[in-house]
Amino acid sequence: GLLVGAAVAGGGHHVDADYPDPFPNDEPYRELLASEFSSLTPENQLKWEFVHPERDRYEFGAADAIVAFAEEHGQAVRGHTLLWHSQNPDWLTEGEFSDAELRDILHEHISTVVGRYAGRIAEWDVANEIFDDSGALRSENLWILRLGEGIVADAFRWAHEADPDARLFLNDYGMESGGPKADAYLALVKELLAEGVPVGGVGFQGHLAFEYSAPGGMADNLRRFVDLGLAVAVTEADVRMPVDGTPTNAQLTQQAEWFGELLEGCLDAGHCTSFTLWGAPDRYSWVPVFFPSQGAATPWWDDLSRKPAYDTLWGIL
Ligand code: XIL
Repeated sequence: GLLVGAAVAGGGHHVDADYPDPFPNDEPYRELLASEFSSLTPENQLKWEFVHPERDRYEFGAADAIVAFAEEHGQAVRGHTLLWHSQNPDWLTEGEFSDAELRDILHEHISTVVGRYAGRIAEWDVANEIFDDSGALRSENLWILRLGEGIVADAFRWAHEADPDARLFLNDYGMESGGPKADAYLALVKELLAEGVPVGGVGFQGHLAFEYSAPGGMADNLRRFVDLGLAVAVTEADVRMPVDGTPTNAQLTQQAEWFGELLEGCLDAGHCTSFTLWGAPDRYSWVPVFFPSQGAATPWWDDLSRKPAYDTLWGIL
């Protein structure tokens, strides 16, 4: 029953780069998505700046195309994301709204976007990256800054009203192995569950890098959430490395091992519902754009040939 997913390129960094189409019209790429995956996540196409570019205008074309493609191929969809500090449109971040107006804007957005795909999106990342690495609520999140922490609970309630069938997630990076951020989420979900807030899972993004450490201790960390009755997921897996020439066999082996640990860490926790790669092949990855001189972060080379990471992951699956 595990969903194995990929982020679908388009929007975000792809808009200005070589791939202006918000769902690349690239047959070999679409064929890869259709044949290897049972779930798709729009990488940018459901983020505020893309889907809600003006206060009174929504732009659903790209997300509609991805959802239709997924349905055509019997795939599930993960929705990403509703309450985040990043990729918000200027009209929202620069507008002068009262607190009451902001609340209404968020409510309307969630009802509209989640409602449009009700029954068709398996999992939603309702709140994304709300804590910093120390486990404090992020100061740059406009919703929390203006409306307080309680807005997170409201976002989950509104999403649940709009689609009672979707499993609703909190999602963040850099907490696969535990630490202050994971502890902050654990404390938060305990509170939310005690208040009856419809939180259904916690997503661990899984953006790994050789400059940091391997995802050790992951199953024990994730099991703390499973023990509360929640699902866990790996939502944005990639393993980046310095790219100075072609990666060595040793690097590719390490990458394969780390991808494998991410997948096994989730499976071993006991209630892992989805494992999603953040882009594939390398030529659609966000990594080289955001982390200069790093790359090769997906299990496929630019030309769609497979790396050792592919064999490791699909060997486990
Ligand atoms: C990234 C996309 O991959 C880029 O295309 C975009 O320009 C910026 O955002 N954590 C998340 C994702 O939750 O939404 C981010 O995606 C990567 C980090």
